[in-house]
Amino acid sequence: MTSRTALLEVEGLTRRFGSGRNVVTAVKDVSFTLAPGEIVAIVGESGSGKSTLARLILRLLPPTAGTIRFAELGDVTRLRGGQLRRYWQHVQAVFQDPFATFNQFFTVRRFLLRSLGILDDPPQGTARDKAIAAALQAVGLEPSDVLPKWPHQLSGGQRQRLMIARTLLLRPRLVVADEPTSMLDASLRVTVLNLLAELRQHGTSILFITHDLGQAFYLADRLLVMYQGEIVEHGPVEAVLSAPRHPYTQRLLADVPRLGEGRTALTTSEHLTPHHFSTSS
Ligand SMILES: Nc1ncnc2c1ncn2[C@@H]1O[C@H](COP(=O)(O)OP(=O)(O)O)[C@@H](O)[C@H]1O
Ligand SMILES: [Mg+2]
Repeated sequence: MTSRTALLEVEGLTRRFGSGRNVVTAVKDVSFTLAPGEIVAIVGESGSGKSTLARLILRLLPPTAGTIRFAELGDVTRLRGGQLRRYWQHVQAVFQDPFATFNQFFTVRRFLLRSLGILDDPPQGTARDKAIAAALQAVGLEPSDVLPKWPHQLSGGQRQRLMIARTLLLRPRLVVADEPTSMLDASLRVTVLNLLAELRQHGTSILFITHDLGQAFYLADRLLVMYQGEIVEHGPVEAVLSAPRHPYTQRLLADVPRLGEGRTALTTSEHLTPHHFSTSS
């Protein structure tokens, strides 16, 4: 399934861990494309291979087989050195548990300054400080409060918001968000989902990994359902959720009360309501 307009094109992606009888195929022959400005959700239970897929796409882990093509860069599984850094200019991660992402010896200010350093033409001086402050404020962090802090002085939710702030600051072409709201309470969760929806308006593509069908339903254009490392169902969100074909998707859907009532009536266990989602988009 080659598409000339795709930003990301994953084909036959496979990753095995271990060897012999202990081998685990965490990601098995996964193929999909992501268009510019598109949001694709990957849903699946814990252990289905979602985070491994995310790490492969971010080039944090080499694949056992398969290709990952990114726009003009071609197959990124082959990139090294300067070319790999170029790929990382375009791709940002937002993780489920972002503690490991932060250098514990860097303050928030230094972390964000260094992040800006990957850009070819980063803002300077007051423009830079204003951009940083605006990104922090967008995620509900007070710049004067968090900028001097060290990672361990932030809560999990604050660290997760800091990663979203970095994404807003860098405006990458692709965001790989692996359970990006897992450490946030209901109202912040809504804020972050809305920020992701806004990023897309600027042309950013988002791979949105979640075990929460409600969030996928709200945010995504298309849905990929992963089960034991494989994509067992895919299609436009409404089509998949209104007529799930795979038994796993049917079971997943049965666990989410009221989702079948349509997008406007969405209420999940996380208290997401249509009211919360009425944004400028
Ligand atoms: N570094 C690793 N070494 C060995 N097994 C791993 C490693 N990372 C993931 N796995 C295994 O791969 C499978 C998929 O895990 P993961 O991608 O984390 O799933 P998910 O994010 O959907 O919960 C699991 O069986 C997990 O134990
Ligand atoms: Mg995971």
